[in-house]
Amino acid sequence: MSSTTAAAMPAKLKMFLQTSGQQVEQTLTTALADHSSAEALFAAMNYAALGPGKRLRPALVYAAAQALAGKDVASQSHAAAAALECVHAYSLVHDDLPAMDDDALRRGRATCHIQFDEATAILAGDALQTQAFELLAAADLPAELKIRLITELAHASGARGMVAGQAIDLAAVDHALALEQLEEMHRLKTGALISASARIGAMIGGASDEQLTAITRYAEAIGLAFQVQDDILDVTTDTETLGKTQGADAARNKPTYVSLLGLDGARSKADELHREATGALARLGGNTAILQQLADYIVHRDH
Ligand code: IPE
Ligand code: IPE
Ligand code: MG
Ligand code: MG
Ligand code: MG
Repeated sequence: MSSTTAAAMPAKLKMFLQTSGQQVEQTLTTALADHSSAEALFAAMNYAALGPGKRLRPALVYAAAQALAGKDVASQSHAAAAALECVHAYSLVHDDLPAMDDDALRRGRATCHIQFDEATAILAGDALQTQAFELLAAADLPAELKIRLITELAHASGARGMVAGQAIDLAAVDHALALEQLEEMHRLKTGALISASARIGAMIGGASDEQLTAITRYAEAIGLAFQVQDDILDVTTDTETLGKTQGADAARNKPTYVSLLGLDGARSKADELHREATGALARLGGNTAILQQLADYIVHRDH
């Protein structure tokens, strides 16, 4: 069976995702409780951060930390897991804005700027981004480690990471991209934050330099595979399952793995990246079962 064919999720992964999802929702609910007079802003932040997402980036934080340091390290990972979801949620709010992808549907509901208004959505995105760093700064972790985590997240999210990828993406509308340029765009806009999730988890788990190198190879492969699969699903999955408008990339003439390589080519690319991730895990050591299942899920998922 090709690894890009949909398959049932193993019970162990299902349970892991449930537990890590609940935990991150609890942390975010507390962090985003409204104690201010800016009611609409807080409502929009809660709407964006706590909507029905997959919580994959927090799951990677927990899974990488636990692969190296066992289950007890989970309590040290809560703030970082929630921080990753905050940056991700902010990126989705801004990605959907009329000036960017101009999408009306996200996670099966109205996008933030439709539910509220454009100005509130922009501000909610801004505030979710800074909330992420507030969470990390306040984490119950050694100061030196926190500086490493903050640096990692800032780099992955900013002008040398996710934001650069979004800039390239928008500049590429109606333009042809060479395969290497497309790969670079995907690595930045999606891969960087996914990579940072696993690396941050590994740092909390006390990774050695060799382990960090192995987890980085794993994470870069699944980070790119995640966006390749996102491009595939945009073509192959219906709007209801996706929770976002099917065919949005083609409608906006976006260069994607499918538009460049065709569906079969995109699926082969996802399979190749899945093999690369599996190979990197073999070099990591520790208990990598969940990290492996997350890699499988990323190329099997249907939304
Ligand atoms: C969507 O990410 C945006 C991309 C980077 C492709 P997810 O597919 O992880 O979105 P949610 O969090 O589950 O809604
Ligand atoms: C999203 O890429 C990347 C970020 C949000 C940073 P897409 O524009 O393909 O994501 P979707 O398909 O809208 O979720
Ligand atoms: Mg986009
Ligand atoms: Mg989009
Ligand atoms: Mg997409």
